[in-house]
Amino acid sequence: MTGHATRATIVQLLSHMRDGKEVRDYLNRFSQIDQSRFAVVKIGGAVIRDDLDGLAAALTFLQTVGLSPIIVHGGGPQLDEALSASGIASERVNGLRVTPEAAIPVIRKALSAANIAIVDAIRECGGRAASVPTGVFDANLLDEAVYGRVGEPSGVQLDLIDAAVRGGEIPVLACLGETEDGKLVNINADHAVAALVKVLQPYKIIFLTETGGLLDDEGQVISTLNLASDRERLFAADWITGGMRVKIDQIQALLDDLPLTSSVSITSPAALTQELFTHAGAGTLIRRGEKLLT
Ligand code: ARG
Repeated sequence: MTGHATRATIVQLLSHMRDGKEVRDYLNRFSQIDQSRFAVVKIGGAVIRDDLDGLAAALTFLQTVGLSPIIVHGGGPQLDEALSASGIASERVNGLRVTPEAAIPVIRKALSAANIAIVDAIRECGGRAASVPTGVFDANLLDEAVYGRVGEPSGVQLDLIDAAVRGGEIPVLACLGETEDGKLVNINADHAVAALVKVLQPYKIIFLTETGGLLDDEGQVISTLNLASDRERLFAADWITGGMRVKIDQIQALLDDLPLTSSVSITSPAALTQELFTHAGAGTLIRRGEKLLT
C-alpha cells in the first residue's frame, strides 16, 4: 500500500510537470511558510465515503515532502445515515442541519468514526496523523429555538493543532464545538473552516471535492477565477446555479480576510499534487485579485 500509493502520486506529478524547476519552486515556496499556516484543507463527507485511499495518498505525499496541511472534515452523508438509523429526521433550515439534543451523541459518534477513518487511512499509507475530534472550536448556540444544538464558532484554540504539527502529524479536525458552559454543538463545516482561516491566515485553502473544481456551462472545470475581474461577468451568466453563487460568495468572504497572496484551490484528491506543484494546476484556483482602476 505505502509504496504503491506514493508511487502513483509521484508518477502523476511527473507526467504533468513542465520541468523540475516548476515543482522545485513551488516546494520551496510552500516550505518557507510556517507549516501551521501552509494550508487548510476541507474534505466533504462524500470524499471520505468514496475516495479515502486517494485522499490518504495525496495527504501522505505532502507530508513526505515536508509539508503539513491542516484537515477539516464534514460528514454530511455519514450523519444522514447515522441519524436515520437512530430514527432522527435530518432537517435543514437555511442550509444548516437542525440538531435536536438527542442527535448530539449520534453526531459525535458518526463524526468520530469519519475522523478516525481519515487518520487510519493516512497511517496505512505510511503517513502520520493526529485525530482532533473536539477541543478546537469554541462556540455560541446560533438560535436554539430554530436550530437546536448548532453552534457558531466564537473562538479557535490552536494548542492541539500546534502540538500535532510540532510532532510531525497532520491534524485532522472534526466540526464539533463547545459552548462556554461545556455543551457539545454541531458546527457547519464551512463555518468551521472560515473561523480557522481567520485565525491561521493560511497561504492556501483547499477544498477537496469529487468533481475537482467549479464547472462551467459545458461541464468543464474552470481553471482560474480572479474575483475582482471575473466575478461580475460570471454572476451575470445565465447558466450559473444558486449553489455556485453561494459557494463563490463564501470563498470571497474567506479571501477578503486574507492577504492577496493567499488563494483557494478547489480540486480532487487525485489532482491535488498537480494542482499544488504545477503552474497550470488541476482544479479551480481562486484569487481575490485587485480591481484595476481605469
Ligand atoms: N500551483 C499553484 C498553486 O497552488 C498554481 C495552481 C494553478 N491552478 C489552477 N487551477 N489554475 O497556487
